[in-house]
Amino acid sequence: MFSVVKRSFSSSSASAYKVAVLGANGGIGQPLSLLLKLNHKVTDLALYDLRGAPGVAADVSHVPTNSTVKGYEPEGISEALTGADVVVIPAGVPRKPGMTRDDLFNTNASIVRDLAKAVSENAPDAAVCIISNPVNSTVPIVAEVFKSKGTYNPKKLFGVTTLDVLRASRFVSEIGGTNPVNEKVTVVGGHSGNTIVPLLSQTNYKSLDTDVRDKLINRIQFGGDEVVQAKNGAGSATLSMAQAGARFAGAVLNGLAGEKDVVEPTFVDSPLFKDEGIEFFSSKVTLGPEGVKQIHGLGELSSHEEELIKEAKDTLIKNIKKGVDFVAQNP
Ligand code: NAD
Ligand code: LMR
Repeated sequence: MFSVVKRSFSSSSASAYKVAVLGANGGIGQPLSLLLKLNHKVTDLALYDLRGAPGVAADVSHVPTNSTVKGYEPEGISEALTGADVVVIPAGVPRKPGMTRDDLFNTNASIVRDLAKAVSENAPDAAVCIISNPVNSTVPIVAEVFKSKGTYNPKKLFGVTTLDVLRASRFVSEIGGTNPVNEKVTVVGGHSGNTIVPLLSQTNYKSLDTDVRDKLINRIQFGGDEVVQAKNGAGSATLSMAQAGARFAGAVLNGLAGEKDVVEPTFVDSPLFKDEGIEFFSSKVTLGPEGVKQIHGLGELSSHEEELIKEAKDTLIKNIKKGVDFVAQNP
């Protein structure tokens, strides 16, 4: 005879967490939800979208890991968010060929602003991971909304730049003929074009010929365009982004659980260049039980990297201001 033991999952124990995905029916949202279902720290997975999330939830829920999965339609957003430890936001439109990420601003800014309001009201203590583009502006939008509601915790707001890190590992390994799993490249700055700065001088690839180096950096900076062009109007990176999002959310959960030495580059409220008016910057961050535990400096840079950082800062200051101004003008 078998006896059936019923277990319920709550987010009260150290390795049991509720994660909410906003935009779960999208190109990123669906595979990201699947990958989060495979993360054993996730015991409660709340999938929200304007449409289709209950179907994604029903599908993902059959994967036999120790978690409950529930899909929510717009009227269920409060319930989806209540009690969430981590909220991941890939809601918004993706690029088509010929567009920059900044061209998405007009559509995605208000989507992200409104979702940030819902997070502020229903999950004010959650760690919030922003995937929606343009990340350099959507993260400041979320910060401004949280500030206006009195719930801003700079230690718990993250722009997800992990895809740049994955691409850097992959692309250097293609040059080196190595296993990308072993290639660690720190990528700093932001998440668009010249704000993406891979620190190759801190890797085994510090002595590449200038033309090889420049092509490699350009490929890391514009890797997103490769996918947008190949998809030819059907969107941008979704599968590699789901992997990047799951890795980053997994790192946040590892930090919340008190694991040691959890370090990922991410776009956060950063002291590194605040004196130059740049409120957010991506660099290596140690993640801990309260979210951000330590923001690392950039380390030693080559003179070429110094130039790239300068260019990145010039763009970032405008991208960040655009997000801040949007909320001021469209609260
Ligand atoms: P998609 O169109 O396939 O999916 C977006 C989903 O968001 C849809 O299911 C849509 O219904 C949903 N949505 C829209 N408005 C919503 C709202 N108000 N509330 C809840 N859900 C809403 O797009 P995608 O390919 O998944 O890309 C999503 C976003 O992620 C884009 O902005 C894209 O540029 C960005 N992105 C970021 C990175 C990164 O590295 N940070 C990488 C790839 C894509
Ligand atoms: C990416 O880097 O793939 C994403 O930001 C999507 C895009 O628009 O390129």
